[in-house]
Amino acid sequence: MVLRSSFFVASILLLTACGSGGSKNDSLPSETPEEKGESLYVLNCASCHGEDGKLGSSGAKDLSVSKLSDQQIEQIIRKGKNAMPAQEAVLETDENIKLVIEHVKTLKNKP
Ligand code: HEC
Repeated sequence: MVLRSSFFVASILLLTACGSGGSKNDSLPSETPEEKGESLYVLNCASCHGEDGKLGSSGAKDLSVSKLSDQQIEQIIRKGKNAMPAQEAVLETDENIKLVIEHVKTLKNKP
């Protein structure tokens, strides 16, 4: 019994050692899509809207209470509106725009 359980512990240790050794090479921080959307937002939008969407600098709308559809948000991001400059060129790809829209929508759930 004692023998069996110490064998068990030994194999766990071995597995753990192998596991961490193997992942050392690819331990670069990999961003999830959510994290990428957030960094794009913080980089390009937070100066006017704030990280929580509520800053309202230079007349920016409070994104935490915004009731726009995905399509309307996309339109405003791409083409801008009044004091908000178009962000299409800044965000560069459709994928980035999509990620930012997803992030904008998470701001609504924050108190
Ligand atoms: C230079 C400041 C500025 C930047 C940068 C900026 N915005 Fe805006 N944003 C505004 C202003 C001002 C408005 C209000 C436009 C209006 O309706 O007159 C606005 C409105 C919006 C709206 C509409 C909200 C509503 O309910 O009407 C959305 C969505 C939005 N911004 C998203 C973004 C996103 C996403 C980014 C980054 C990619 C961004 N904004 C960057 C200033 C900015």
